[in-house]
Amino acid sequence: MNYQNISVTRRSPHLGAFIEGVDLSAQLPGETIQEIRNALLEFGVLFFRNQDLSETEHIHLGEQFGTLDEPHPVFDCNQDDPRLTIIESKGRAGDAEHYWHSDVTYQVAPSLGSILLARKIPESGGDTLFASMYAAYDTLSEPIKKMLESLTAQHSIERGWGTALRMRPNGEKEVQKLKEAFPLQTHPVLRTHPETGRTALYVNEYYTSRINELSESESEGLLRILFHHSQLPDFQIRHHWQVGDVAFWDNRCTQHYASHDYGAEHRLMNRVTIVGDQPYFKH
Ligand code: SIN
Repeated sequence: MNYQNISVTRRSPHLGAFIEGVDLSAQLPGETIQEIRNALLEFGVLFFRNQDLSETEHIHLGEQFGTLDEPHPVFDCNQDDPRLTIIESKGRAGDAEHYWHSDVTYQVAPSLGSILLARKIPESGGDTLFASMYAAYDTLSEPIKKMLESLTAQHSIERGWGTALRMRPNGEKEVQKLKEAFPLQTHPVLRTHPETGRTALYVNEYYTSRINELSESESEGLLRILFHHSQLPDFQIRHHWQVGDVAFWDNRCTQHYASHDYGAEHRLMNRVTIVGDQPYFKH
């Protein structure tokens, strides 16, 4: 792909690029937005350094790429505009999201992409890892690929958030409320990317609870194989944050993992999540 308005540097064979020459706090020209979209499709996750964004500018940035998702049902949210999610660890151990996942796959139409800004990072650690689910699919053996074509899986908000919420006072009530608001969703195990047409593996350890067409033990065994495969370092990059870094990733073909290796130190990120479409698989 040829880029005229942004400078693009690939980070690894399967995914990731640094983008330079763009100030994300500004209203972006149409050509720049189009090139960032193209780069997202080509690389899966984009990194922008030294972005000085207010909360309002962060929200506006997300709006230039689509409709923003409703306020996150569990994370804290910005008081003025709750579509801005606050992901903060401060003196707490065992926070959630330290599992490989793609954002909000328990929804009917999970997110297209998320834009994360680093506001406060630990002295060391607190990296985020990203993995290409195209590469995970491409490297499966042909008989397994064939078998996955006809399978669908359940995605459960309880699987992701249940344990952390139940540790809070009144946690069980919160879990039941969430389950009512977000009933189990079924998505195909393989997802056709709606823009690139490529196939991605679409199960994640945080939210995918069961393969519908298999017995419980078969489902458990196959999911274990697929989670292990999708988490191989071969398909990953690791981003070491600086304050002011922005990462923009495509939730339709990547997964990510926030490393919780910084004890009680303070880490503060803001995220906006862009609404996507209902996953499908096309032969
Ligand atoms: C997320 O899972 O969206 C947050 C990732 C991070 O905090 O690094």
